[in-house]
Amino acid sequence: GFEVQLSSSGEVFAVGKDESVVEALARHGVFVETSCEQGICGTCLLRVLEGEPDHRDMYLSDDEKRRNDQFLPCCSRSRSKRLVLGL
Ligand code: FES
Repeated sequence: GFEVQLSSSGEVFAVGKDESVVEALARHGVFVETSCEQGICGTCLLRVLEGEPDHRDMYLSDDEKRRNDQFLPCCSRSRSKRLVLGL
């Protein structure tokens, strides 16, 4: 498992292995706009300020994925214990 932190408030939420980051945020009243929920459309794109995403989308280019400064929370996860999000 891993956790996400909101950079604005500092709040930290655990992401369960059977839920997406979008779902974990929504459980805590933080709603991210989504459309495809399959990593295709890019609607849910969030900035990543710290941590290393585990990119599982087909939207970002390989170069964009390597920069680790954005990710698609409908499907992507984290390689690091925590991701700090631009939320
Ligand atoms: Fe389409 Fe996340 S909702 S990429």
